[in-house]
Amino acid sequence: MKRIKAIYPGSFDPPTNGHLDLIERGSKIFDELVVAILRNPEKDPLFSVADRRKMLESMTSSFENVSVDTFDGLTVDYALRVGAQAILRGIRAISDYEYELQMALMNRKLQPALETVFMMPADKYSYVSSRLVREVAQAGGPVKGLVPEVVEQKLREKLEPAYRFHDEMQEGRAPSAKEKKRKRKS
Ligand code: PNS
Repeated sequence: MKRIKAIYPGSFDPPTNGHLDLIERGSKIFDELVVAILRNPEKDPLFSVADRRKMLESMTSSFENVSVDTFDGLTVDYALRVGAQAILRGIRAISDYEYELQMALMNRKLQPALETVFMMPADKYSYVSSRLVREVAQAGGPVKGLVPEVVEQKLREKLEPAYRFHDEMQEGRAPSAKEKKRKRKS
């Protein structure tokens, strides 16, 4: 019987519950699914590739047919190298469609044997993106329910001063001059 292997490429900076939802759906229709983190030296990421890999490994550990890997270069080359027949991508809203269509058609041009499969995450995650999660977390805002617990914990560790400042503001406690100075230094 033919077994279908797919890759789910992306930046995952950080991974969100939308990604996890898609991984779960993908793991049900593909025999094997590789979550593939692009190593992109051009971007200035919040998390290192190693951190992203650890978070993704932790949040997907219960799926037996899901693994996590990293890659450089073209997605289609990586897909062929690992013997995948499909590329999984998520589409949340019409706004995603144009970019995803362009990318799928370019990938088809580069490698006609590979199919791109689009899936929709649960509608409760339709507004969740790594970019918005980063933006909220960098201002110390709550991201509970938007990202897995392991990611929430990592965000808190990484952005501790922003969270402390936000919590103080929420409690109505304006930071003292000493605290402000310490924050400016951190
Ligand atoms: O999570 P993202 O940032 O939307 O993922 C985009 C990604 C990594 C899938 C895309 O940028 C990609 O495939 N990059 C690898 C380079 C490549 O193959 N480019 C041609 C695709 S059109």
